[in-house]
Amino acid sequence: MTKIAIIGGDGTGPEVAAEAVKVLKKVEKKFDLKFEFTHLDFGGDRYLKTGATISDEEVEGLRRYDAILLGAIGHPEVKPGILEKGILLKIRFQLDQYINLRPIKLYENVETPLKDKGPEDIDYIVVRENTGGIYTGVGGISMKGTPNEVAVQSMVYSRFQVERAVRYAFEVAMKRHANSAWRGLSEDDLDKGYIGQVTLCGKTNVLTFVFDLWERTFYEVAKEFPKIKPAYSHVDATCMWMVKNPEWFDVIVTTNMFGDIITDLGAITQGGMGIASGGNINPTGVSMFEPIGGSAPKYTGKGVINPMACIGAAQMMMDSLGYSNAAEAIENAMKQVIKEMPSQAAGKMGGSTTEIGDRVVSLI
Ligand code: IPM
Ligand code: MN
Repeated sequence: MTKIAIIGGDGTGPEVAAEAVKVLKKVEKKFDLKFEFTHLDFGGDRYLKTGATISDEEVEGLRRYDAILLGAIGHPEVKPGILEKGILLKIRFQLDQYINLRPIKLYENVETPLKDKGPEDIDYIVVRENTGGIYTGVGGISMKGTPNEVAVQSMVYSRFQVERAVRYAFEVAMKRHANSAWRGLSEDDLDKGYIGQVTLCGKTNVLTFVFDLWERTFYEVAKEFPKIKPAYSHVDATCMWMVKNPEWFDVIVTTNMFGDIITDLGAITQGGMGIASGGNINPTGVSMFEPIGGSAPKYTGKGVINPMACIGAAQMMMDSLGYSNAAEAIENAMKQVIKEMPSQAAGKMGGSTTEIGDRVVSLI
């Protein structure tokens, strides 16, 4: 029995999560799996009623599940930061989901704002460190509200945090190219025995403390993976190359903050928030899968939101739980439905939220 917690959350979150659950129920039947779904009501509505985000005990309670599917967190009537920090980040940190895995993959027939780029050019994966950096950094405000006020929010990284994120990225590259080498490698690279590449995205020219730690750790860990070519790109240049030459990337590893920023850029190049999925991974614990876009409150209840990103999150969940047949079946069905959709934008999908979900289900 695989126990799956569903946190629909806020805005359109519950609507997209419902479609993902339909898809999971279909693969459950088809591949003779046994899932038990538990719906949990953490989110803005509960907060507005009770003042509670998620307690330490409730997060601990999530450890009894095999995986978590999250719709979205963020409510227009709640001050920004309360739910994000109080629920989403709290789960990520307390369950030690230290990797945020965000594939940037352009599927066939999806419109990208990148001129002359197609699915063969936009296919890489961002490994975002997910439990450290400026997100958890020490900080505070003093003399608040006076002309002398001072605010500090520090980027804090331990060697341990950096090393495990970097090692995970190299492992992802090894797995990605277990059967065939990455097409971005040159003849020369292939002669050297490389099968893939990991690019560290940093800022070694300015943030000379934190990225000194990242850079040294990166090249030390790289030695354990002689088949993977290590590369480096400053974060500002990375943004430029993601637009100009996305085919230069295979796996990117980066900090929590940079990863947050570059994956929104990446998402738009793959067709937008309607289609971008991610996983908060604890390789030895409970992972949580989510569409990377927000709760899109203005579309709530209208049946126009694209469920594909959440279905993609469910697909990543299956893969992570080791149900590779189910993951593959979902991805194949997604590809087909995506190909037939006129647009990935809300309201322009050529069908309602539930119709898109139904189509995916029918093709599995
Ligand atoms: C994301 C989101 C979150 C983040 C917010 C909602 C806390 O933007 O998952 O990318 O910054 O990590
Ligand atoms: Mn983000």
